[in-house]
Amino acid sequence: MTIKNICCIGAGYVGGPTMAVVAQKCPYITVTIVDINASRIAAWNNEDLSKLPVFEPGLDNIVDEARGRNLFFSTDVDKAIDEADMIFISVNTPTKTYGKGKGMAADLKYIELCARQIAKVSKSNKIVVEKSTLPVRTASAIKSILNHTGNGVQFQILSNPEFLAEGTAIDDLLNPDRILIGGDDSIEGQKAIQALVDIYANWVSKDKILTTNVWSSELSKLTANAFLAQRVSSINAISQLCEKSGADVNEVAKAIGMDSRIGSKFLKASVGFGGSCFQKDILNLVYIAKTYGLNEVADYWEQVIIMNDYQKQRFSDNIVSTLYNTVSGKKITFFGWAFKKDTNDTRESAAIKVADNLLSEQANISVYDPKVVEERIYADLDYLGTRSENENKALLTVHNNPYEASKESHAIAVLTEWDEFKTYDWQKIYDSMYKPAFIFDGRGILDIQTLEKIGFVCYKIGSGAKI
Ligand code: UDX
Ligand code: UDX
Repeated sequence: MTIKNICCIGAGYVGGPTMAVVAQKCPYITVTIVDINASRIAAWNNEDLSKLPVFEPGLDNIVDEARGRNLFFSTDVDKAIDEADMIFISVNTPTKTYGKGKGMAADLKYIELCARQIAKVSKSNKIVVEKSTLPVRTASAIKSILNHTGNGVQFQILSNPEFLAEGTAIDDLLNPDRILIGGDDSIEGQKAIQALVDIYANWVSKDKILTTNVWSSELSKLTANAFLAQRVSSINAISQLCEKSGADVNEVAKAIGMDSRIGSKFLKASVGFGGSCFQKDILNLVYIAKTYGLNEVADYWEQVIIMNDYQKQRFSDNIVSTLYNTVSGKKITFFGWAFKKDTNDTRESAAIKVADNLLSEQANISVYDPKVVEERIYADLDYLGTRSENENKALLTVHNNPYEASKESHAIAVLTEWDEFKTYDWQKIYDSMYKPAFIFDGRGILDIQTLEKIGFVCYKIGSGAKI
């Protein structure tokens, strides 16, 4: 079976870049990305490529090449479903905010709506691919909806989790470590798997394309994110020991990372991990374990989140205690708001929690981030509901220039590891600040020796050389 027409439901951080790469690599396939959010689709269709709704290095060039040729963005969901041989579901699956599993389980309401819409519209057989990260056994729920409400149309359900990381999405998509495809054991199921393998084989070598049963594929995605997040919480736990004992977490990370069994990646201590996936997927894993009565398994993974929350809390506590136990009325400048560099995404960013804690201590915060827009920053804070929108606006200001942002501040906190922070004129920044001028490097990216020579008083995450 050769796929000629693909529809992707959900034009977000996953659906957009993934399908842009599929379209670029498979010019013979028409790829239509649909979304219920009309302004998002309008942004994807914007002539000005700097206005795409997702910022990813290299994405603009790919969209430029494929858009209008075989890549289309639309709000006409029904038409795109009807015309497609293969439908990717890439809608969000947030943590439930109500009812059973509140605060833990994934909310599958959007997935179910998609399945029902596919069932209603389809007039020909289709392969439905889960791209969203889902709890184990979701595929069987989708299958049940499709088979019971459809009109005699045959559906095959595949699980094809996405492993791209934001900021490096295009490179990850072009050169993936592996592609994982889960499907049914039946002949029809195997044919569907093969159809998806053939798409990826346009640019990924076959030995990197793994095929498994559906549930292994679903669980592998949750497990991969849980293991990655666990590494960050592990090194962050050690960063605390380093600060107390006088060791340096970067030296420890290097020493252990050279053990080929441990490996060197994902050992960068930080103010805490963020992003749309890690916390959500671990909570999901914890919930699944609990529903199977595996309480020890649930507790084990939950600790990864507890450590992450603590890392954020202790960062803001340290700022308060270092600034003579009060930040009330003091200006603190945040360099970075995104959850990591090279993205405009702020979901679950550590900066949000750190800011919220400091605002509760009546600090004035000024923020500079190279890519995150002002409305996003206020929306992130307002969403927490800790104080009114007006209070957030009064206490926090957003700047588009780092030198303006840091003028007359008591302290600078580095929340995101943007490369440009390393090359600023730090003397100029120092001269414009109140003294003592403090720096709290929550990402361990600045050259502390140089900064101390200028006169800054420095704290670096995981460094025993404390203030
Ligand atoms: C999301 C999840 O975060 C991730 O776990 C999952 O693997 C894939 O989906 P992301 O692309 O980052 O990843 O989410 P988001 O940027 O929120 O995009 C989802 C899009 O789906 C939104 O643009 C939303 O408008 C759209 N959507 C949602 C629909 O088109 N229809 C719906 O019914 C629900
Ligand atoms: C993650 C997974 O890496 C990806 O495979 C999956 O598809 C989606 O979830 P993402 O959240 O985009 O990707 O970014 P990632 O690079 O994993 O970083 C997540 C968070 O961990 C960021 O806040 C990052 O700053 C932090 N992190 C990462 C550290 O603090 N230290 C590290 O060593 C690595």
